[in-house]
Amino acid sequence: MRTVPQPIADILELARWAPSGDNTQPWRFEVVDERHLIVHAFDTRDHCVYDLDGHPSQIALGAMLETLSIAASTRGMRTDFRRRLDSPETRPEYFVELIPDSQLLPDPLFAYIRHRSVQRRPMHTSPLTDQHKQALQSAFGTFYTIRWFEGGIQRWHLAKLMFDNAKLRLTLPEAYLVHRNIIEWKTRFSEDRVPDQALGLDALTLKLMRWVMANWRRVNFFNTYLAGHLVPRVEMDLLPGIFCAAHFAILASKAPETIDDYVAAGRAVQRFWLTATSLGLQLQPELTPLIFSRYVREDRTFSRLPGAMNMAAMLAKRLPGLLQGNPVEQVVFLGRIGIGTAADSRSLRLSVGRLISGNK
Ligand SMILES: Cc1cc2nc3c(=O)[nH]c(=O)nc-3n(C[C@H](O)[C@H](O)[C@H](O)COP(=O)(O)O)c2cc1C
Repeated sequence: MRTVPQPIADILELARWAPSGDNTQPWRFEVVDERHLIVHAFDTRDHCVYDLDGHPSQIALGAMLETLSIAASTRGMRTDFRRRLDSPETRPEYFVELIPDSQLLPDPLFAYIRHRSVQRRPMHTSPLTDQHKQALQSAFGTFYTIRWFEGGIQRWHLAKLMFDNAKLRLTLPEAYLVHRNIIEWKTRFSEDRVPDQALGLDALTLKLMRWVMANWRRVNFFNTYLAGHLVPRVEMDLLPGIFCAAHFAILASKAPETIDDYVAAGRAVQRFWLTATSLGLQLQPELTPLIFSRYVREDRTFSRLPGAMNMAAMLAKRLPGLLQGNPVEQVVFLGRIGIGTAADSRSLRLSVGRLISGNK
């Protein structure tokens, strides 16, 4: 294995902590020299029902590029990213140049890169203060705005939406294949997946779920005859949805269309999430209702399960009402946020060595 030159080694050491859907880390790095590298990104749309058109992977890629930029600022370097226009959208490549800049100050968000993590369990319900909200809005420029869903009634509506949406998530055969591959069982930390203990389930339910998820026949039987999805949905969606300070939607001024739009949104999302961490707030993305609603809007079949499309259509109808006039197409991120302690089980990351393409 080749050694990575400085300062790239230190910069990648931090950049790899960016979040990605199901901790897929859809990027590999090729180091050209101590000032240049190539990011070989990829998406998982061919096998992951949630990665619709690769957009969630592109948001994650944006989060990683932003993290890389923040990390470079601590070394007195600006970053220039250029997407290779002839690289396929499913495997985009970015040339990264690190440019020394004596005027550049270290980005204060760098201190939170390692601490930022998902919290899937209930949080305090104390509302966010105006200072919190101002700091979170200032995390990105005016192109993105935040719509807050606060107070018991709005939180209940969002929690109920997540709870109902989770029925779809937990009964789809296509989603089962994803969950089976991305959950690492009996563990608190996982380098390349999501540890089961980070899912937000109590120990007994987790044990049962592990047994059930061993094969689709069990999943289907439990769901069909024993409402096997009910307790997991209460623990993973309903209670956390109620117990938080607020849900939020990040809206772009113009609906994203291109890969560059989604990558830009990802950069903004990461600044938002790191700022939340700096304020002592915890966060959980809640993207799946957005994804299923887009399948419905574009009339694209996503499951062989009879009735799945109808169920998704019913759920999709509720989103515009909840967003109160804000166009669903402009929402780039949905989540919940609140005061609370960091999760004691979390995803880790592949080492820099393993993320360097060509290394085994
Ligand atoms: C685009 C995107 C979508 C995500 N969607 C969800 C989600 O719907 N539910 C959830 O619990 N976590 C979601 N996550 C969080 C990832 O699962 C998490 O970032 C990853 O497992 C790494 O864990 P960490 O953020 O704690 O380091 C999402 C992350 C990204 C970047």
